[in-house]
This record gives sequence, C-alpha cells and structure tokens, in this order.
Amino acid sequence: MILVLLGPPGAGKGTQANLLETDRSLVKLSTGDMLRAAVAAGTELGRKAGDIMERGALVPDDIVIGLIAERLDRGGEGEGFILDGFPRTIAQAEALNRLLAERGKTLDAVVEMQVDDDALVKRIIGRFTCANCGEGYHDDFKTPKVPGVCDRCGSREFVRRRDDNEEVVRSRLEAYHAQTKPLINYYAKQGKLKSVDGMAEIGQVRRAIGRALDGSA
Ligand code: AP5
Ligand code: MG
Repeated sequence: MILVLLGPPGAGKGTQANLLETDRSLVKLSTGDMLRAAVAAGTELGRKAGDIMERGALVPDDIVIGLIAERLDRGGEGEGFILDGFPRTIAQAEALNRLLAERGKTLDAVVEMQVDDDALVKRIIGRFTCANCGEGYHDDFKTPKVPGVCDRCGSREFVRRRDDNEEVVRSRLEAYHAQTKPLINYYAKQGKLKSVDGMAEIGQVRRAIGRALDGSA
C-alpha cells in the first residue's frame, strides 16, 4: 500500500505515520525528517534547505522530488510506504505519479487530516521529540509516562525543532494554504481522498484512519 498523509503543520502527520508503521507494516517517508537530517549532517543540500525551513517556506520541488526518488530506489519498503509531508505542491504530486508509474506502483489513498489553525499553533509550540529515537511528544497532549524518560527507548534527551515558534508556524500555515491545499481537490477528483477529523484525540484519529483505509468510513 502507498499512502499519502496530507495536512497542515501540526495536523498529526508524523504522529499517525509512526502509528501506521506499526498498524500496517508500512515504512514512513518524511521529507521533513530527510531535510532535517541533511541540515544536521551539514551537507550542501542541508545548508540550502535549512535557511528556507527556518523561514517556514517550502524547499524547491526538485530537491524534495530528488530525495523521494532516491529513497524509492533504495526499496526495502515492507508492505509499502506512508508519505508524510510529500507531496506539498501540484508539481510534486505529478512527479510522484511519474516516479511510482516508472516503478510499476500506484498511489492507493490520500488521507487528509483536518485541524483548525488555532489548534495547530498550540500543538506545534508544545511539541518535543526524543533525541535518540525520534518519538514525538507534547507538553499537554502526549507526555512521557515517566517524566523526562522516552517511552520508546528510555533516553533522557529531548529536542525541539528550530521552526517550532509562533512566527514561523504562521508562515508554514500560509505556505500550506497557498501551495498545498489545492492538492485536496486534485486528489478528490482522482477518487483517492479520504478526510478524517484530526481534532480528535490521537487514538481516535488512529482508528478513524484505519476505518477510512478499510473502506468502512
Ligand atoms: P515537516 O517536517 O513536514 O513539518 P510540517 O508539515 O510543518 O508538519 P509538522 O511535522 O510540524 O506536523 P505534523 O503534522 O507531523 O504533526 P505532529 O504529528 O508532529 O516540514 C518542515 C519543513 O520542511 C517545511 O516547512 C518545509 O520547509 C520543508 N519541507 C518538508 N517537506 C517538504 C516538501 N515536500 N516540499 C517542500 N518543502 C518541504 O504533531 C504535532 C504535535 O501535536 C505533537 O506534539 C503531537 O504529539 C501533537 N498531536 C498530534 N496529534 C494530536 C491530536 N490528535 N491531538 C492533540 N495533539 C496531537
Ligand atoms: Mg511531522
């Protein structure tokens, strides 16, 4: 199965992609994570992307399309992929169709996660992540079971993203509304769109996505 998770910053794409890896034996491909890894590694691509990400704008299409093409070529995808944060423009969506067709694959479904803008800002400002395994948390909505200790790997080190402040979040939201939202219609016309209420609690959203994918919602 090849699945796209579509939604604004903070909609819960990363959270639900991690759960889908477990629920469906799929592999998460997150362009945001790939770009942050390139920034941390100090590569040329990372230097170029880092400035753009800190402004909350979108990285040029050719860079992210190249990252996805490279990753698809590496294979090893188990039961398939969950694309988290890609595509984000119509040009990226068209490139994805092309990349999949060239490899004899097709996109099965696009899950749109609907969340109010005000809730998104609150979610993003409160987010932190395990520095070791990448498990995501939130100051109010998802705290570690033992304070200060990652549930998944036991690490005591956590990080916050450089683009997770209110000013940059507003720019990221603007980029979403201007450049990514048109994908909702694009995929609806192809009969691939499934919309879920992303305002519900994390476990409820997980179940709603499961029902949408199984065709019972
Ligand atoms: P990216 O890393 O993709 O960030 P984003 O789209 O802004 O989305 P986030 O990762 O912030 O949110 P999320 O939806 O994953 O939410 P999460 O699950 O963490 O991209 C970053 C940047 O990279 C972009 O701005 C751009 O510059 C560049 N980029 C990346 N891909 C690109 C592309 N294809 N083209 C061009 N540029 C690209 O949840 C958020 C918080 O809320 C967490 O703390 C979580 O615990 C909590 N939470 C989750 N679900 C719920 C819930 N249901 N209720 C309450 N809290 C919840
Ligand atoms: Mg994310």
